[in-house]
Amino acid sequence: MQVQLSSGTVTYRERGVGPTLALLHAFPFSSEMWEPQLAGLEDVARVVAIDMRGFGGTPVAGPYTLEDLARDVAEVMDALGHERFVLGGLSMGGYVALAFERLFGHRLQGLVLADTKAAADTPAAREHRYHVAAEVEAEGVASLTATMPNTLLAPVASSDVRERVRAWIERANPRAVALAQRAMAERPDSTERLPRLTLPTLVVVGEADALTPPEEAERMAALLPDTRLVRIPHAGHLSNVENPAAFNAAVRAFLGAIAR
Ligand code: MLT
Repeated sequence: MQVQLSSGTVTYRERGVGPTLALLHAFPFSSEMWEPQLAGLEDVARVVAIDMRGFGGTPVAGPYTLEDLARDVAEVMDALGHERFVLGGLSMGGYVALAFERLFGHRLQGLVLADTKAAADTPAAREHRYHVAAEVEAEGVASLTATMPNTLLAPVASSDVRERVRAWIERANPRAVALAQRAMAERPDSTERLPRLTLPTLVVVGEADALTPPEEAERMAALLPDTRLVRIPHAGHLSNVENPAAFNAAVRAFLGAIAR
């Protein structure tokens, strides 16, 4: 499905009935990574999974900042008639969700921060992103396809999950990858904002997440006033894909608590 925004077309997937849960994907994936949640939460939420610029069916447009992506999300949700909703993001999606909260916090009923962090990049991490952006623009996504699945997934990930994730990375548009890397490099630090987030939050992390490890999630949870932290067993960075049953159970319980 698609909507027309001032910045161009945005595609999304939508399924289910109930209060709205908008989901923002990780880098360099698309709304497809949320299929286990679209299918597994459809009885408790209207799940809207949005393709950010250059990913899934949404055309490449940029350069942009993560705030621009948050504005796109606001426009999509306006177009679909969702004034208030729960917003969830995994990794890069979490960075965009935090940007959304900064800009449009009044629209949120709750926030799900999965395998993500509030901290900005270190100078070295920023430099690495610019290097990856240039490399991918020059040579395509082969270097990511070769290395990312091992970094993202827990050692116990099945060959089916590994193959799916590898195929998703292979499909990523190099220009979109480069633009996303540059936008993430320039994101501000959100740590100081966390103690002011009085809305209900759910922090989720794969127990074997090597990129945004459980200690990072604990740091965020310690600063959030109204939060619950759920560790997902047998999962790395893509906890919603690696262990959908545990991930969905955590979100289901969170939505239930908000509704009470
Ligand atoms: C992601 O999974 O979205 C990325 O690993 C985020 C990042 O590169 O910081």
